[in-house]
Amino acid sequence: MAYAHDIDAKHAPNDLEAFWVPFTANRAFKKRPRLVTGAKDMHYTAANGHKVLDAAAGLWCINPGHNRAPIVEAIRKQAGEMDFAPSFQFSHPRAFTLASRIAELAPGDLDHVFFCNSGSEAVDTALKIALAYHNVSGNAGRTRLIGRERGYHGVGFGGISVGGMVANRKQFGTALAGTDHLPATYNREKQAFTKGEPEWGAERADALENLVALHDASTIAAVIVEPMSGSTGVLPPPKGYLKRLREICDKYGILLIFDEVITGYGRLGYAFAAERYGVVPDMITFAKGVTAGAVPMGGVIARKGIYDAFMKGPEHVIELFHGYTYSAHPLAVAAGLATLDLYKQEDLFNRTKKLEPLWYDTAMSLKSLPGVLDIRCVGLTCGIDLAPRKDFPGKRGYESLEYAFHDLGMMIRTAGDTLAVSPPLIVSEAQIGEIFEKLGKVIKSIQ
Ligand SMILES: Cc1ncc(COP(=O)(O)O)c(C=O)c1O
Repeated sequence: MAYAHDIDAKHAPNDLEAFWVPFTANRAFKKRPRLVTGAKDMHYTAANGHKVLDAAAGLWCINPGHNRAPIVEAIRKQAGEMDFAPSFQFSHPRAFTLASRIAELAPGDLDHVFFCNSGSEAVDTALKIALAYHNVSGNAGRTRLIGRERGYHGVGFGGISVGGMVANRKQFGTALAGTDHLPATYNREKQAFTKGEPEWGAERADALENLVALHDASTIAAVIVEPMSGSTGVLPPPKGYLKRLREICDKYGILLIFDEVITGYGRLGYAFAAERYGVVPDMITFAKGVTAGAVPMGGVIARKGIYDAFMKGPEHVIELFHGYTYSAHPLAVAAGLATLDLYKQEDLFNRTKKLEPLWYDTAMSLKSLPGVLDIRCVGLTCGIDLAPRKDFPGKRGYESLEYAFHDLGMMIRTAGDTLAVSPPLIVSEAQIGEIFEKLGKVIKSIQ
């Protein structure tokens, strides 16, 4: 049995064995666990009582900061009023209000919102809507789903099938049949140390033409990409890439889905990255920032034409056989409404945009440190590639995560030997300095 040694008695769990911790090196973690017991604004409290600067927004989700009073109060109030409302054949008024508020934030005619509980469910929902849309539109042969190398779309079978991270795929059989992938947009030689979107790479979208030539457009339902790939270490899109993808999708009647689970709700200085890049996709998936992570929620925003395509036939018949017990859960809806209010009241998306130059410059100050291969940043995100240790890829990243937490009191994310930071959007200028100063210490100490 493993016990947590370096945490105070009040918070020490008896036994760390039972919890199989997700996406975590369990044996290493249980030898020296990283446990947090409280949170407020920009900080966690670690189980030993130390303050921890949250440079990861939890897991890319606490955009307005932790435990903000209006969100906490809204959840409390809702819990006292109504615990649960079924979403199949029934609903509750605030669910409609939240859907309208989200649709208002989304560009163009992205007018209809389907609720679920996570990013993975949002992705599988969007892929299913794409297939069903073609089915009800008389194009049932359009079944192929295209993702991208180095893409992350959660962990459902749909998501890993269109995803492009080998570790998330290789243990899980053949996943969905009939998927294919665009090439990743990243090329270190052409773009290392670019601030924001790289100049090079729009032509990578043309690979969709090759996939059309290979499979024929009549078999392709949809293309799904993250506007900025977060989980593979922050890959901003090349300038013009997303527009080009939109044009090719339009040319062949292929639906375009933006997975905005990370980029949604202000991370890139706009409600959605679709707005930043001036491209209206056919669907947007979201999660994380919609409720500031306080209650699980995800969803899909679909264009009017997609929703309308289903609204035919006898009116008593269900149009889309899909949904989750907890779709539009009252606690999540209450948290979502309070979170959207906070974004607006504090103008957090514009604040993010204004902080970008300082964020970029401070990030690039680490450029000449030993073993730094690339630094990428867009919005309030940054990925730093470190040279891997010979024969131990990922170990330097793991030790950096541990060192940052235990020795420097900072939470970061890592993907292999890439360090990733994405603080809450309320981060102060001084805290931006602190984040990169501490990252500098990490890079120098963990060689
Ligand atoms: C782009 C993207 N899609 C989907 C997901 C999956 O979300 P969840 O972990 O809520 O299922 C993530 C999670 O980080 C993500 O970044």
